Amino acid sequence: MRDPRYDILFQPMAIGPLTAKNRFYQVPHCNGGGYRDPSAAAAMRGIKAEGGWGVIFTEQTEMHQTSEITPFIELRLWEDKDIPGLRKMSEAMKTHGALAGIQLAYSGINGPNFYTKEVPLAPTALPIRTFTNDPVQARAMDKSDIRNLRRWFVNAAKRSKLAGFDLICLYGAHGFGIFQHFLSRATNQRSDEYGGSLENRSRFAREVVADMRDAVGDTMALTMRVSLDESIGDLGFSNAEVREFIEMNADLPDLWDLAQGTWEDCSGPSRFKEEAAQEVLVKGIRELSSKPVVGVGRFTSPDVMARMIRQGTLDFIGCARPSIADPFLPKKVEEGRIEDIRECIGCNICITGDMTMSISRCTQNPTFMEEWRKGWHPEKIAARGESENVLVIGSGPAGLEAARTLSLRGYDVALAEAGDAFGGRVARERLLPGLSAWGRVMDYRLYQIGQRPNVQMYPGSELGVEEVLDFGFQNICVATGSQWRADGVARQHVVPMPGLGSLPAFTPDDLMAGRMPAGRVVVYDDDHYYMGGVLAELCAKAGCKVTLVTPAAFVSDWTRNTLEQGAIHRRLAEAGVKIVLNTGVTALRADGVEANCAYTDARRVIEADAVVLVASRASNDALYHGLKARQADWADAGIRSVQIIGDAAAPGPIAWATYAGHRYARELDTGVWGEDWGDTLSFRREITELAVD
Ligand SMILES: Cc1cc2nc3c(=O)[nH]c(=O)nc-3n(C[C@H](O)[C@H](O)[C@H](O)COP(=O)(O)O)c2cc1C
Ligand code: SF4
Repeated sequence: MRDPRYDILFQPMAIGPLTAKNRFYQVPHCNGGGYRDPSAAAAMRGIKAEGGWGVIFTEQTEMHQTSEITPFIELRLWEDKDIPGLRKMSEAMKTHGALAGIQLAYSGINGPNFYTKEVPLAPTALPIRTFTNDPVQARAMDKSDIRNLRRWFVNAAKRSKLAGFDLICLYGAHGFGIFQHFLSRATNQRSDEYGGSLENRSRFAREVVADMRDAVGDTMALTMRVSLDESIGDLGFSNAEVREFIEMNADLPDLWDLAQGTWEDCSGPSRFKEEAAQEVLVKGIRELSSKPVVGVGRFTSPDVMARMIRQGTLDFIGCARPSIADPFLPKKVEEGRIEDIRECIGCNICITGDMTMSISRCTQNPTFMEEWRKGWHPEKIAARGESENVLVIGSGPAGLEAARTLSLRGYDVALAEAGDAFGGRVARERLLPGLSAWGRVMDYRLYQIGQRPNVQMYPGSELGVEEVLDFGFQNICVATGSQWRADGVARQHVVPMPGLGSLPAFTPDDLMAGRMPAGRVVVYDDDHYYMGGVLAELCAKAGCKVTLVTPAAFVSDWTRNTLEQGAIHRRLAEAGVKIVLNTGVTALRADGVEANCAYTDARRVIEADAVVLVASRASNDALYHGLKARQADWADAGIRSVQIIGDAAAPGPIAWATYAGHRYARELDTGVWGEDWGDTLSFRREITELAVD
């Protein structure tokens, strides 16, 4: 039963000529699949429809060949040929009464056009602004270019209608959409009627909306996604200016979609941004227009959502990541199952699928983008197969997810944990600076497991080979995790580094167990994800004089894919951490570390009292190998299968572990893991159709 406090979230609301059935609005988000994996992307949106979202959008859709963002894989609407793929998506979105939206992106100064080889067009001739500083410049549009672009928008609108969409979002935020490029004095330095005053800079948006209304406005709603604060210096489109723009053009779109300026800020991770972090930028904008307003802020709490609507800040609750972590969030609120919501942890792993042009993952929701490829439904699962029980050894993210999912399939599960507390690495890492929200990975799973009668939990149970053989479980799932290496082996050193023992050295596990270095500390990061930066912050907070040394050109290099890298560097610099880039550690010495330039190998000594080695991790796989060595005894012991999963198999990010646990549980007794494993592809895929010459 729904809590009446949340009734307000289920009130229908008009958007132009249409009505949304509730206030849950899935704002545009990419998924790394885009045009390459159309059925996978469509099925993912269809699951959101089933989960109760009132409005569901595509990711950004490149609407014309003269503006595209290769290598990133989004959607395309360049010609009629693109319509069937998009129609498949809109149909999936509309299956449960949601409105289907398409976001049209003309990337202007953000589109290098590597694929189409067209010269990029922008309001003003400037270098292309991308993550990779591509060596390409845009040509300034003349009046006939602007006329063409207006027509291309109309063409795209007509095709969107044919593709079955109800709403069109015009992209003018995150620095990615042409409307923002016209609005901002940084990217629009024109001296004609499209530049200069705010009224002039708004002209292009007004013209496009008017053209599109003529073409499709009787049946489709038009929304405009605008930047709340461009945050790129004095010339940037500021929060004050966006308010002026909306006031001046109050009734322009059918809905205002508000999103903070840079993508890094807008999709800020939990390490740096709280829930509802954009509230201050959004507050009061709704009063400037009669049109409804949607805003974002990693909303996972229905109380915060209801407050946003009740206090008149927003009309719709915009969600990207919360809808990825739990596509059934609205349904769970509606059914009064708040405690079942799988809350986003704000890790931004979902963004890495786009940044690496692979396919997205979600730490909390391993079924994300596997709805079609593997047929995984986030809320439904097949009943168990032939066998009846499983011993899961290890309660980190892989073990917890395996136990949760196995119990849903109807297996009797015993979960053995060597330590006194459940949660494995997540229980430790959640205590590090900024990572408390990551604890949701274990909180959600422990709560769910606690509701199941068929899971028995055994803390303080370190198991050996004989005990496992004696227990009589049919399936053994080894999820014993990993530990940080103390010998510096990672990328720079593939064998133990010289000088070990000459300087006090600490591992991340030491620090997480409370064994802290003191004095002058070198944090050597050859891991390159978050841990090195987080531990440098921890040491600085503990009063150490910290130098972070890394062979990479960026602090926490891989976090460029989670859009955190800039914020991490800023935080460390503000905490007084000295950052030494492009530099390795060749050896430890009694007085510090011997460092080398990553390019010239020039050596120098960095004096230190201690070093923290953030290198690689070693799997805790002794039990697994012990069991494998006794394979001849399995049948007598009643064992049908033994598998190793997660960090115990090969260490990786937490999302890899929850995926491994989920996959194990899904695939147990399905024959996937037999002797002929790998002969058939383990997921469905689409391949490009060959043209008839
Ligand atoms: C994986 C991912 C992809 C995104 N892709 C887009 C996009 O294609 N177009 C867009 O306007 N915003 C995009 N965004 C930004 C979101 O729409 C949203 O504004 C932002 O994530 C904040 O909302 P949230 O806190 O609910 O995630 C993306 C966000 C994520 C997490
Ligand atoms: S990957 Fe992380 S940030 Fe993205 S939706 Fe999942 S839990 Fe949230």
